[in-house]
Amino acid sequence: MSAVTSVLKPISEYQALSPEQLFKRTAEAKHALGNQVMILGHNYQRDEVIEHADFRGDSLLLSKLAAERSERPYVVFCGVHFMAETADILSRSNQTVILPDLAAGCSMADMAAIEQVDQCWETLARILPVEETVMPAVYVNSAAVLKAFCGEHGGITCTSSNARAVIEWSWARREKILFFPDEHLGRNTANKMGLPREEMLVWDPFQPNGGNSREAIKRAKLILWKGHCSVHQMFQPVHVDNFRKQYPQGKVIVHPECHEDVVNKADMSGSTEFIIRTVTAAPPGTVWAVGTELNLVNRLKREMTDKKVFFLSSTVCQCATMFRIDGAHLCWAMENLAEGHVVNHIVVPDDDKRWAKAALDRMMAVS
Ligand code: 13P
Ligand code: SF4
Repeated sequence: MSAVTSVLKPISEYQALSPEQLFKRTAEAKHALGNQVMILGHNYQRDEVIEHADFRGDSLLLSKLAAERSERPYVVFCGVHFMAETADILSRSNQTVILPDLAAGCSMADMAAIEQVDQCWETLARILPVEETVMPAVYVNSAAVLKAFCGEHGGITCTSSNARAVIEWSWARREKILFFPDEHLGRNTANKMGLPREEMLVWDPFQPNGGNSREAIKRAKLILWKGHCSVHQMFQPVHVDNFRKQYPQGKVIVHPECHEDVVNKADMSGSTEFIIRTVTAAPPGTVWAVGTELNLVNRLKREMTDKKVFFLSSTVCQCATMFRIDGAHLCWAMENLAEGHVVNHIVVPDDDKRWAKAALDRMMAVS
């Protein structure tokens, strides 16, 4: 990385470049930065971005890489905001995490605000000895302050690949779990573990007592926050039925953020990494319908030339926030970095970092 010699380059300059120019200039900036930088790419990223990634993977894999690869001082995170925050929490203090577009958020993460979670906890505390009986477990698709809430209250984070282990860990310590912000991941995981429906309830943060009676709260073993992924909730059971009619021998694999009616009809469900691994390892000639984000499915379709891969529903859109990271933003972040300017530095405040790390460390220990 050269000393600061130039002014910060504006993003508008990059938006006028062709894909070929962007590719070349990003590759050159990466080459110039050498071991100074590591580009991490989530499985949902566009091809024009993922082709520059040193590592690609699901949330858990990328979190682990951020924690382990301390030798690279700059981490350019091609994913969404909560993932870059997680990388900042887990990385060493000498590392700087960059998110190429700050507008790359997550609509699910926005469905639980700390004020609502605090209020839920206070309400539960009026009904139960909350600190001894309720384990807060937060999906990593959440703001750092919510991870910190969990860390401070003895709780834990989870990803789609370790939700079962995290739920087991939580029930081994406290009789109830407050699981947020994705009700579907929590419910689908508990369904697989055989939890009866009457021991689950949904907490609607806009209703008194979350919309539940005191008796139901006392009875529940799993309190599911009313939140969802706007992309995965678009998959419907009829999409599975339609595929099966056309391809009776075909297999359906979906992400556990889908509604239980879809997951229950599918052959398998799991994280983005699980989906990629499973379809890749399947025998030649097999047929798959995949229910997760479109960029991942299109890539699988192209790469798995010996298999037939379909998107589970042609009416479902891609994740609009993951899509914010494009070739122009990546090139802008990389060239500015090569010239000594850090753009879009993601910094989690120290207080949140300490407790959020406690919750993430507990998760890492059970993963
Ligand atoms: P994974 O942890 O499976 O990569 O999923 C992250 C995500 O945001 C799914 O919508
Ligand atoms: Fe968030 Fe859904 Fe996009 Fe994943 S796919 S980042 S959960 S909005």
